[in-house]
Amino acid sequence: MKIAVLANLKKNAPTWPGMQPDRWDDLDSEETIQAIVRALEAGGHQATFLEGNLTLVETLRQVQPDLCFNICEGHFGDGREAQVPALLEMMRIPYTGSRVLTLALALDKPMTKRVLAYHGLPTPPFQVFERLDEPLDPDLKFPLFVKPSREGTGMGVSAESIVQDEQQLRARLPNIFKRYNGPALVERFVEGREVTVGVVGNLVRPAARRVPGDEDAPRILEGLYFFPALEVDMSAYPPEEAGIYTSRIKVEMVHDFHYLCPAPLSDDLLADLQWWAAATFRVTDCLDVARIDFRLDASDGDKPYILEVNPLPGLNPGYSDLCVEAAADGWTYEELINEIVNLAAERYGLS
Ligand SMILES: Nc1ncnc2c1ncn2[C@@H]1O[C@H](COP(=O)(O)OP(=O)(O)OP(=O)(O)O)[C@@H](O)[C@H]1O
Ligand SMILES: [Mg+2]
Repeated sequence: MKIAVLANLKKNAPTWPGMQPDRWDDLDSEETIQAIVRALEAGGHQATFLEGNLTLVETLRQVQPDLCFNICEGHFGDGREAQVPALLEMMRIPYTGSRVLTLALALDKPMTKRVLAYHGLPTPPFQVFERLDEPLDPDLKFPLFVKPSREGTGMGVSAESIVQDEQQLRARLPNIFKRYNGPALVERFVEGREVTVGVVGNLVRPAARRVPGDEDAPRILEGLYFFPALEVDMSAYPPEEAGIYTSRIKVEMVHDFHYLCPAPLSDDLLADLQWWAAATFRVTDCLDVARIDFRLDASDGDKPYILEVNPLPGLNPGYSDLCVEAAADGWTYEELINEIVNLAAERYGLS
């Protein structure tokens, strides 16, 4: 097939005076794009990179791809990860991965948590702050964790995100409002292990029903393939990171990544994580690939809490969590990338 790889490169991103230094931390490197292009070529496809901006209307008309491999994070707006897929749908061009609504939803963590909560899926209790003077929900118990509502790659996440009392909370909020120009998500701080579960596949329908609250109800997992869970080895990082998968670990220390994969989990706990991951994939309507991030509550027998779903998980072959998980399972990078293509091609009925 003729495949266009659509992404936003860090080096092509707009800049302006006074821009925050972490502004484009979630965009892709040339190294990642070259690896994807090479993997697609190894899979027998013709692959071209196109920058995911307004030039796409013209470049897509010129290239006329059969399919787009979409990993665009976008630049501006609350729904920025959904903009290129919306354009592709207007142009009637097939693309890999989740669709418009899922990408816009998953970028907004509070909105995603509302969907998860509706389905009874375990996500930490939370409150969204848009202004400094909003009263604190008396049901929320300290310590709390403060992060931006619509960012990724650990942006705005550091040891200072943990707040012990209302004074610390009120001191932290303006930093998030100003730096990330949007609401702050304040969650119960889940002290414990950090585990992420990568998935490829598509659920065999019917999967649109509400997730059963009954613990003994059959678990719908068919169609999904789970990579071994990855645990971030927090003991290997400086204590200043406070056991948090911080922006520093994800950006500055990325080439010195410490992890356990497969994560040392009991069979029962792993089965629960896979079920919560599948249920999250299902209720947020993910397609082809996703990574679901958890914290295990040490004070409650490692009870899993879903932090977020990433329908556009990082795909750097060297250090992205999903790629590390696939490699630990014996998959080559080429196999991972081409499996995502095959899953999308199958959905669209492409050869
Ligand atoms: N409620 C919480 N309790 C404890 N730690 C948390 C909580 N929320 C977030 N964290 C820590 O902050 C990290 C980043 O949070 P989260 O996954 O929500 O952000 P992100 O920037 O979107 O991450 P990603 O790089 O996966 O896109 C988590 O991996 C975890 O270490
Ligand atoms: Mg995360």
